[in-house]
Formats: sequence, structure tokens, C-alpha cells
Amino acid sequence: MKKADRKTDTFEQIFAGVYGYNRPYIPMKADLNQRVAIITGGAGMIGGAVAELLAASGARIVLWDINDERGAAEEQKIIESGGEAKYYPVDIADRAGMAAAVSQVVADFGCIDILFANAGVNTGNRQPVTEFDSDLFDQNIDVNLSGGTVFLTRQVLPHMMARGGGSIIFTSSVCGVTGLRLQCGFVASKFAICALTRSLALEYARYNIRVNTLAPGSLPQPYGKLNFLWDTCDFENYDQNFTNPASIVYDIPARRPAYPTEMAGLVLYFASDDASYTTGQVVCVDGGWTAGFSGDY
Ligand SMILES: NC(=O)c1ccc[n+]([C@@H]2O[C@H](COP(=O)([O-])OP(=O)(O)OC[C@H]3O[C@@H](n4cnc5c(N)ncnc54)[C@H](O)[C@@H]3O)[C@@H](O)[C@H]2O)c1
Repeated sequence: MKKADRKTDTFEQIFAGVYGYNRPYIPMKADLNQRVAIITGGAGMIGGAVAELLAASGARIVLWDINDERGAAEEQKIIESGGEAKYYPVDIADRAGMAAAVSQVVADFGCIDILFANAGVNTGNRQPVTEFDSDLFDQNIDVNLSGGTVFLTRQVLPHMMARGGGSIIFTSSVCGVTGLRLQCGFVASKFAICALTRSLALEYARYNIRVNTLAPGSLPQPYGKLNFLWDTCDFENYDQNFTNPASIVYDIPARRPAYPTEMAGLVLYFASDDASYTTGQVVCVDGGWTAGFSGDY
């Protein structure tokens, strides 16, 4: 496609057919028949793509989110594709609400086999640590780590143990394995999620419960818009990004952002019995971003 043809408004149109995006492919399948999967942030990009892929493999999908409109739309989309899904309005910042929702899911579905604890926030004022708003720092830790990961996992584990096993998958980030300036709250929460992955894997492997983590690269922010990291990207002269160290694309060997469907295959694998001996792992799906340095020193 010529560059001129790419001068369009939406991210998907800009990248359609170039740099590996939108290549036709047949998505993976696994045997998740009747497995019950809770997906937090299920109305979002990654959660939605994962929900659709797991549903296509037979899982019964429980969508949790605070965006009721998009949650209901995702539920509808899965049902229309022949899958099973139910949306619950659940805020991962609300401990009592999460505990009640876990009980409700067990009452509605009978069990929990898969937990994809994926929802997260990135709050902060983009400042170095001395200037970083303390309340916002705490919010990252409280929502992403203490609530959405630790508290929720503690609620779900007894149900998985009663069931004889399960698969827990967290969402971290590339900046849960490498540092990033000006986002210390988010980075600290995502690093801790990777640490927990290993500790919980050690604690629960004997109960046939596996714990693994997806660490995504950068995805275009919802819905058709780019997130602020992509402000540095030159879309008119895209190839200029490859030689401009100020552009985010310069640092990403794949030379493009990630797409939600590219996250989903790894989560399906972690959720499936194909991964029955895989636990305690953090896998970056990042176009090579964390593989090494970008410059030719
Ligand atoms: N988008 C990226 O570039 C990127 C990169 C690395 C990691 N991540 C992580 O991936 C995860 C999913 O994000 P995404 O990329 O799909 O973004 P997204 O904004 O499309 O989805 C996030 C979803 O979480 C929901 N949510 C937010 N706060 C919530 C709360 N308190 N309770 C329940 N739901 C809540 C939102 O309504 C949204 O539907 C997040 O943990 C995020 O930190 C994203």
C-alpha cells in the first residue's frame, strides 16, 4: 500500500495491510469446553480479544468491567458468534464488590476454572518520583496490584482448589520487566505482578493451579485513538520513525504497535491444558521491544 493511501483517520486504517497488521490468519483453538473463565477488563481491547478467543474454544465467559455499555456489547458479540458470555459490572477497586461477584459467578456457573486478572489503571502525573502525586502512586498499587490481582486471586483460589485445579493469568506490561521514566506508580504495580506470578506459582503448583503472566507491548488506546506514547509517531512519513530516536517506533523492532488479537493467543495457551506444565512464567508480547537495545552502538 502506498503511503498516500494510509492518510486516514483511524489507527486501523493507517496500518491496514502494512507491517504485518491485518494479515488473514486462522486463530488458535484449544479444548476449553465448558471451562468457566473470569476476565476482568473484559470490555477493553485485550480483555475483549481474549474473551472472544476463549469463547471460540468453548469456554463460558464471565466479563467483568466498569464500562457497562461496552461490557454488554462484548457479551452480545460473543453470544452472536455462538459462544456463552455474561457481563457483570464489577469494579476491581471495590474489594467487597469483587468478593460478592465471585460468589455470584460460582452461584451462576457452578465453578471457576480460569481467571484472567487483566484490568488495570495507569494513574499519575508523568513526573519523576519526587514530583509524582502520592495518592496517584497509591492508586496504581491499590487497584492493579492489591485489589485487581492479590485480593481477587485470594477470592478465586479456594474455588479452584475445590475444583482440583485451574489457570490464573495476570496482565503486566513491558514496563513490568523493564523500567520506564515518569510512570513509577504503574511500573511498580506491574513489576510486582510479575513477582507475584512466580511466588503464587510456587505456592499453588501442588494444587494443579498454574499462574502465568502476559506482558503486553504498546497497543493503540481505545477505541481507534492512540495513547499518548504514540504522540511521537510520524504517521505521514512512517518510515522516518525507524531512524528517529524520539519516536516510540524506533525502539520497537517490529516497527509497529501491538494489536489485541496478538495478545489473545498467549492467554489461550496459558489457559489450556497444552500449558499443563507451564507455570510461573512471564511472557512479553511486544514485537521484540524488551529483547535489547535499539541503537547500533
Ligand atoms: N494498551 C496498552 O498499550 C497496554 C500495554 C501494557 C499493558 N497493558 C495492560 O493491559 C490491561 C488491559 O488494558 P487494555 O490495553 O485492554 O486497555 P483498555 O482500556 O482497552 O481496557 C481496560 C479495561 O479495563 C476496564 N477497567 C478500568 N478500570 C477498571 C476497574 N477499576 N474495574 C474494572 N474494570 C476496569 C476499562 O473499562 C477497560 O474496559 C491493563 O492492565 C493494562 O495496564 C496495556
